[in-house]
Amino acid sequence: MKTLALDVEPSVQRVLEGVDFDQVHSRYWEQNEFVFLERYLPPEILNQILSEVEAVRPKINRNYVPTHKKGGSVSYYTLRRETPSILALYESPTFKKFLSRLTERDLLCCPEDDPHSCALYFYTEPGDHIGFHYDHSYYKGNRYTVLIGLVERSQSCRLVARLYKGQPSWEIREMRIPMEPGSMVVFNGDKLWHAVTPLEAGGERVILTLQYVTDQRMGPVKQLFSNMKDAFAYFGPAVFLRRKPRASARSPRGRKRG
Ligand SMILES: [Fe+2]
Repeated sequence: MKTLALDVEPSVQRVLEGVDFDQVHSRYWEQNEFVFLERYLPPEILNQILSEVEAVRPKINRNYVPTHKKGGSVSYYTLRRETPSILALYESPTFKKFLSRLTERDLLCCPEDDPHSCALYFYTEPGDHIGFHYDHSYYKGNRYTVLIGLVERSQSCRLVARLYKGQPSWEIREMRIPMEPGSMVVFNGDKLWHAVTPLEAGGERVILTLQYVTDQRMGPVKQLFSNMKDAFAYFGPAVFLRRKPRASARSPRGRKRG
């Protein structure tokens, strides 16, 4: 059953008023465009999102890429129809303004036909994991990732972030982060080398990912590569059927419900 959207703006506003922005901003830049915010999401938003997670759980697409990743995903195409509060958070002007100040870039939501715009990742079976990778941008501009912990019932499944990889003058620093419900990380996808360690039997981990870009355009070759990755590593071949040709894809982002 479809739920009603929560008005997230007052809650997001209240949370941000309690954040020491200068400190968070300094940490983000000191850590080569990466920051972890513990218990960021307020309970009223978290609880609503958790109820929406249960509503789409039957629609998980399981994926397996030998030696690299195993897990479950629900794409933006499903979320935009069935999880209005997740969409409201993704599109929240207050939240986007905070992220834009943090990253010092004017951030935009991804185009409507990008199944990765916002998505849910489910680690529910033993061995579910993802190997080390960057969240490279296939767009003409930069891509920024926000991960929000929703369910964390695991002793072994952790986000591992290797800061400063690729920076010759810096020593690589590794962080293993339990994504407790409401915790959030923000990073520049081209800069953070990261992985998720395997889930143990009986454990469960659910993460919400929100993607923002500085330019919504994508060249045809990168479009093809992006489609292939989304189809085979995340959301299944159905994403091919729903994705429009990029040339006509972008109009000002509006709500497409139903
Ligand atoms: Fe990633």
